[in-house]
Amino acid sequence: MSNQIYRQRFSVPFEYAVCFTRGVFDPNNSTLADVLASREPERRHRMFVVVDSGVARGFPELPRAIATYCARHADRLELLETPTVIPGGEQVKQSPAIVEGLQEDMRRLGVDRQSYVVAIGGGAVLDAVGYAAATCHRGVRLIRLPTTVLSQNDSGIGVKTGINAFGAKNFLGTFTPPFAVINDADFLATLEARDLRAGMAEAVKVALIRDGELFRWLQEHVEGLRAFEPVAMAHMIRRAAEIHMQHIAGGGDPFEFGSARPLDFGHWVAHKLESLSSHQVRHGEAVAIGMVIDSFCSVEQGLLEPGALEAICDLLEALGFSLWHPALEQRDAQGEPELLDGLREFREHLGGELTVTMLRELGVGVEVHAVDAKHVARALAWLKAREGARDAAQ
Ligand SMILES: NC(=O)c1ccc[n+]([C@@H]2O[C@H](COP(=O)([O-])OP(=O)(O)OC[C@H]3O[C@@H](n4cnc5c(N)ncnc54)[C@H](O)[C@@H]3O)[C@@H](O)[C@H]2O)c1
Ligand SMILES: [Zn+2]
Repeated sequence: MSNQIYRQRFSVPFEYAVCFTRGVFDPNNSTLADVLASREPERRHRMFVVVDSGVARGFPELPRAIATYCARHADRLELLETPTVIPGGEQVKQSPAIVEGLQEDMRRLGVDRQSYVVAIGGGAVLDAVGYAAATCHRGVRLIRLPTTVLSQNDSGIGVKTGINAFGAKNFLGTFTPPFAVINDADFLATLEARDLRAGMAEAVKVALIRDGELFRWLQEHVEGLRAFEPVAMAHMIRRAAEIHMQHIAGGGDPFEFGSARPLDFGHWVAHKLESLSSHQVRHGEAVAIGMVIDSFCSVEQGLLEPGALEAICDLLEALGFSLWHPALEQRDAQGEPELLDGLREFREHLGGELTVTMLRELGVGVEVHAVDAKHVARALAWLKAREGARDAAQ
């Protein structure tokens, strides 16, 4: 008997619109209706809408606006029921019951693979609703309306969904490109200062690994950004989103089959710090600290000029980020910083060889396969001393 191997092969092109607009539910704004009707323009499209509780609080008139919008565009849209509000923030990703509730709703409402789930919220809600949609009928179309800086410039335009499980962040999840993304700057009006700031970390991140020019632009506009000046914020979000999109489309590995994840610069620290702090630290805040630790390690490894590390710290501090958190000091039973476990978890999540992005210069990332625990320990001591000196100076 001879062995025979058939090679099954096909490719599926992906394409989705990423729209920038304002007043998405103004009846005169046709962006959403156009996007929904971009496939099968002749039929009415069924919509199941899910809203982040933070957004629902900030915009109490939103359910009515959505209903009015659907009534105005009734030839193309059908709202299945009043929007479902789910808790915003990391708690939504911590609770399988919320995802199950959404899946049950979709079953009850007869949401099928040609219906649309419209998710309106921050990155956590988009991740959880995306996961629920991706797992019903093996994938229901998802339209994301990101409502935080972070989700508009980073997570909302990407291809991942997920929830936390068994003590691990994003342990359950899928790679599922959205049907479309609509970024409406008006949603940012009710965002807390803390969240407006946190999302800027992801823009600093793409600048550091990909675009030195954007880094200089951020330095030049730091005052406007610190004050959340809308024109500066809009430019920052759009440019970071563009770089992100280019990476997904042109980076050669949109579904992360390899071990490298350049866009996760600073994220091995970030994910660990988020869980060490019981999610008291926001994702973006943790990314800011993670980037500084990896920039410090880049200097220690002889990759990066010390002056560049100072420039990074100065920019993040000028934006209002704190570069220290007491959870960084937590130790395990052997007296080792628990943070270091983040490296193991990061490698496990990706699989294969550990691959971490370091910096060669402002705007140029480089992959390495080892991080020296001594360098991390020195980074922590340095950041703590820096924080102490800042406190003393104030
Ligand atoms: N899928 C991905 O590729 C990816 C990438 C990066 C981050 N993430 C995930 O995104 C999450 C963080 O997202 P985030 O930074 O957007 O924060 P978030 O979703 O945790 O939201 C922060 C808070 O803002 C509230 N909120 C949201 N929009 C609001 C608005 N317009 N007005 C008032 N309040 C509002 C929420 O209710 C919540 O309390 C993390 O879980 C992170 O892991 C996912
Ligand atoms: Zn991130």
